[in-house]
This record gives sequence, structure tokens and C-alpha cells, in this order.
Amino acid sequence: MRKPLKKAVLPVAGLGTRFLPATKVLAKEMLPVVDKPLIQYAIEEARAAGIEQFCLVTGRGKTALVEHFDLAYELEHTLKERAKTEALALLESTAMPPGSLMSVRQQVPLGLGHAIWCARAFVGADPFAVILPDDLVLAEVSWVKQLADVYAETGGNVIAVEEVPREHTNRYGILKVGKDDGRVAEVLGLVEKPKPEEAPSTLSIVGRYVLMPEVIAEIARFEKGAGGEIQLTDAMARLIGRQPFHGLRCQGRRFDCGDKAGFLEAQIAFALSRPDLAGRVRGFLKSYL
Ligand code: UTP
Repeated sequence: MRKPLKKAVLPVAGLGTRFLPATKVLAKEMLPVVDKPLIQYAIEEARAAGIEQFCLVTGRGKTALVEHFDLAYELEHTLKERAKTEALALLESTAMPPGSLMSVRQQVPLGLGHAIWCARAFVGADPFAVILPDDLVLAEVSWVKQLADVYAETGGNVIAVEEVPREHTNRYGILKVGKDDGRVAEVLGLVEKPKPEEAPSTLSIVGRYVLMPEVIAEIARFEKGAGGEIQLTDAMARLIGRQPFHGLRCQGRRFDCGDKAGFLEAQIAFALSRPDLAGRVRGFLKSYL
């Protein structure tokens, strides 16, 4: 029997420099796509996969991310008095079961691996999902659920992967692939941000993972990798051969909302997926093309 997947770590302590000046005071993960902040999409995706416990790894100026899931008592009271039922329902979508959300601090953004290590007490001895909220997904089935389903079959680590153009391998963690049925690929190696000519494939890691708790001890070696950061990819690579390790090409579309063009594309795709907006958006888009 596999241990059930009930925990998710959401690292949100990055500086978000590509979105300055918007992110000078506001956390990147609070930027909305249509009308919902990125962090809420991430939490909803995890809850749709049966995740029950959440840990946000935050840094300076990121308290709004935790407050977003708190009770807004005065606002709710006023909306009730004014019988604004639709607005109230939207607020309810941010309600979390008591005690299900915690946060830990990464005082200095030393890298994604280090951020995950900061959640070590939360992880304990359990498998856990990692969700990078700036990778936003539009899919019928939650990507965390798709990964969890493969984990239930194979056990071990399962990460979401996507093909990228070879000239972009130096932006991603890249897989060395073993057995591959076109959907699930066995991972034989992982390398962070390789040069195009040195990349072992063009299959890249994207921001959804199901990881085994042993990865924490590997991060704790605190070896600096690409960009001088403590990389999650390097720690994961050391688990290969010791535990099952697979990459899953998930069904659906991912938008890199840490990047301006990706963020704008997400706005359009999500607006077009919404019955209340699609007609108007399609109408005005035509006038720009
Ligand atoms: P990014 O590479 O997008 O970095 O991090 P960033 O700082 O958020 O943004 P830019 O590149 O400066 O614009 C990927 C994810 O890892 C988290 C980020 O918050 C984001 O969710 N992260 C990264 C941390 O929590 N801590 C770190 O030390 C690094």
C-alpha cells in the first residue's frame, strides 16, 4: 500500500523580479488571472486532488498570501447585510478548513530546493506534492490529481513534464529518459538548465511534483547548482535509482505566469474559457488583430 498523498508545499518566497515594479510590494502569486490570484488556482488544483494539508513557504512581504485564505469577517458581514449572495459565494471559495494551511519562512531566497527544505517539519515522513503557483494550468483534471494517479500505480517520485524547443533547455530542468510510452517516461537522469547542445533530451520539468520525503535529506547537503542556487532538481537527481522516478505528460495546458507573455496568454485563455466573458473577449480581441 502506498502512503496516500495528503500534503502540498507551495514555495512562494521568490523575488518575482520579472514582474517589477508590480511585485515591489505585491507578491507575484497574488497577481490575478481574470479575477482570481495565482495562489488560489494552485490551492484549488491541490484540493481537487484530495490534498488536505498545505504549507506555503513565504518570505518578506508575502503575508497577503496567507491572509487571502483567512476569514474576512467585516466584508462578509457587510455583504450579508446587503444580500450580495453572489459576492459572498466568491468569498466562500477562499475558505479553508481550520488548521489546514500553515506557512514557514524562507528568509533569503537561496533557491527552490532550499525553499522546499524550509518545509521539512511539515513534510515529515510523508509523500508530498510541490506546486509552483506561477505555473498555471488549464485542464479538465487537476494536474496534481493526474500525478497522484500515476503515483498510486508506480509509487516513488512523479513529476510533470513537457516538451520544449531545444534552444530553451537552458531555462528548465531537463530529463534523461528511459522507457517511455509517450505519456509516462522513466527518469534516468535530471540536469538543471543545460546548454542546448548538452541537454540529454528536450523533455523539461514543469511546476508540479509528487515527491518522496527522502528528497529533503538530499537538499540538506546544500550544494549550490545552476545560478548559484540550491536546486531541487539536483536533490531529486540523487534519488534516481533508489526510488521509482517518472515523468508524466499531463493533459491540459500550462502557462508560465512568471513570464510577462505567458501571463498575458493565460489571461486570454482563462477569459475565453469562461462563459460569462468569452463572447465579449472574443469580440474585442478581433479588433486588435
Ligand atoms: P522563479 O524561478 O520563478 O523565481 O521561482 P522568482 O523569484 O519567483 O521570479 P523571478 O525569476 O525573479 O521573476 C519558481 C518558484 O520557486 C519559488 C518562487 O516563489 C516560485 O514559486 N522560489 C524560488 C522560492 O520560494 N524560493 C527561492 O529561493 C526561489
